[in-house]
Amino acid sequence: MPTASTPTTWRTEAKSFGRLLLYRGDITRIDTDAVVNAANSSLLGGGGVDGAIHRAGGPEILEACRRLRAGYYGKGLRTGEAVITTGGRLPARHVVHTVGPVWNGGHKQEPELLANCYRNSLRLATENQLRSIAFPGISTGVYGYPKAEATAIAVREVRAFLEQHDLPQEVVFVTFDEASFQLYERELE
Ligand code: APR
Repeated sequence: MPTASTPTTWRTEAKSFGRLLLYRGDITRIDTDAVVNAANSSLLGGGGVDGAIHRAGGPEILEACRRLRAGYYGKGLRTGEAVITTGGRLPARHVVHTVGPVWNGGHKQEPELLANCYRNSLRLATENQLRSIAFPGISTGVYGYPKAEATAIAVREVRAFLEQHDLPQEVVFVTFDEASFQLYERELE
């Protein structure tokens, strides 16, 4: 009897809204072509979803991030930007690392920077011919972005991007708690 949220059964638990899916669970169990990591600018790991992805994905991901840091991203990844690496041992082939804005009252370009996280992650998915990509709630944990506003930006930006692009074919919003799930459900319905 497969346990819940194994790489293949998550789809039966996800709610479908056309090319957008909504799922409540652990993003490290999702077998989309890529999963997005809510990273920090060091790209060298952290807590939250960053910690979960590195723990489940293994050292290959960190090694790939270190190579990025040794090269073009010597000073780290700027807020709103995104890079792609191997998914290591994850069910997902790739990880797209993006750095969300730390919430600072909303008058320091946070909305624009958060929107850039989604746009730049999706741009990488298109450039790499990925069919599917899964997003956590970027910035809505440690970075303190109010969940309702962050969810509205996430859904708006993904919808706008998919209207202009055939790839990725599918985008999955992965929420970790019921409150977030309901916020996405309200935005998507
Ligand atoms: N799967 C899906 N979602 C998760 C998981 C998981 N395994 N773990 C946490 N989340 C959710 C959180 O509940 C939150 O809604 O991901 C969202 C983002 O939370 P954080 O991981 O704290 O990310 P963020 O708020 O963007 O802060 C980034 O935290 O972990 C550090 O290194 C990271 O410094 C960076 C900062």
